[in-house]
Amino acid sequence: MNRELQYKMEQVRELLPSRFPLHAPLALVHSFGCQQNVADGEKLKGLLAGMGFGFTEDTANADLILYNTCAVREHAEDRVFGNVGALKKKKEQNPSVILGVCGCMVQQPQVAEKMKKSYPYVDLIFGTHVAHQLPDMLLSLLQEGRRTLNLDDSDNTIHEELPVRREAGAKAYLPIMVGCNNFCSYCIVPYVRGRERSRRPQDVLEEAKRLIDEGYKEITLLGQNVNSYGRGLSEKCDFPSLLEQLADLPGDFLLRFMTSHPKDASRRLIDVMAGSEKIERHLHLPVQSGNDRVLAAMNRHYTIGQYRDLVGYAKKTIPDLTLSTDIITGFPGETYEEFLDTLHLVEEVGYDMVYSFIYSRRSGTKAAEMDDPVPYETKVVWQRQLLKAVRDISERNNRARVGRTFRILVEGAGRTPGTLSGRTSGGIVAQGPGTEDSIGQFKQFKAEGATSWCLTGTIE
Ligand code: 5AD
Ligand code: SF4
Repeated sequence: MNRELQYKMEQVRELLPSRFPLHAPLALVHSFGCQQNVADGEKLKGLLAGMGFGFTEDTANADLILYNTCAVREHAEDRVFGNVGALKKKKEQNPSVILGVCGCMVQQPQVAEKMKKSYPYVDLIFGTHVAHQLPDMLLSLLQEGRRTLNLDDSDNTIHEELPVRREAGAKAYLPIMVGCNNFCSYCIVPYVRGRERSRRPQDVLEEAKRLIDEGYKEITLLGQNVNSYGRGLSEKCDFPSLLEQLADLPGDFLLRFMTSHPKDASRRLIDVMAGSEKIERHLHLPVQSGNDRVLAAMNRHYTIGQYRDLVGYAKKTIPDLTLSTDIITGFPGETYEEFLDTLHLVEEVGYDMVYSFIYSRRSGTKAAEMDDPVPYETKVVWQRQLLKAVRDISERNNRARVGRTFRILVEGAGRTPGTLSGRTSGGIVAQGPGTEDSIGQFKQFKAEGATSWCLTGTIE
């Protein structure tokens, strides 16, 4: 960690007892949205731990509450406004409590302004580029009682010096890049997270080695578009090469990664996956729509023909591959016939998992300016039709897995008492009787039954 950061954290640590004289303060950091956000939350927790905070999950006990927000859909934003509103009473009862809202949602200036004006009891409002300045923000608050509103997005460096506090367990997130350059017409991410920046391969490899040494069994590499990893780095390294180097590290672990943009996912990526048992047998390849006109309006830069070719190659090269995708229903101007193209693609590919979202208008994006004549209720009906098809497909796929044996990582308790839940390398949920000492371990699993969302069987 660099000296300056350490010094500031030390200053905060010394000032905290004057605000919280009775006990060491507890922080609650809640990350909404995607895994990248969870990983950012782990950095915020790392900083807070270094400044002397303990942690709690209980709002009632928390002395500092930080909501790390998501902006991808309106629904996620509404939840944050609701949660922040509910904190007003807490602040009235106990003015020492420190409240903060950070991340993608408040990186939008109009949202930050609303937060500042309508929620005057929120002390810290900051965007996605300045998390490393949390110690400065706390210092201003503790020394001068000053609120922070910091949306500065000029800092495009990746702060390797930040400490990370991960949840205990077998699974760790490892961000390899941040930002997005794609500007899909519906998406707010490029506006709130800025341009793509990749971490140096040696930094990623070092961190992966540490995680493996610490006993993590599953490492998920994160980026908005992992397949464009390495662009702009001085040393030449693309995503398949990085994946290959990571898979060559000694130890018993599984590598997962997300998200892959179909326009950049290459056959070499699939060859690298096929070449190592340490890489998941799963490809999450968000298609968004099964219709070329809609894909062009979404600015996705691939056609269904190209997508089909890639999926065909992946299935042929990795026969037990699990495929999942993201789909937006009701993109502005999408017709029912165009939606049916998506439905047919879903049936043709036979995805095991589909994350489906009803289009949400994000102000500032290109799609927000497009005509959107289909009523929301109709989009809900389309989505239901899609989800019904997906359930049938996943059940059919899972039934075909019955009788086979899989290596699973046991993650925790299963749905019914006395059972455990884990995942296959393909990401399929596997449940069966077992005892807690297997949690966090790789085990053999024999599939004996199937539903649309899991396999049931015996854990050996
Ligand atoms: N409306 C609905 N879904 C969206 N996504 C991104 N932006 C929007 C939006 N405005 C979905 C995409 C993406 C996933 C993470 O969220 O499907 O792949
Ligand atoms: Fe959004 Fe497209 Fe970037 Fe994904 S690739 S974060 S959908 S702009």
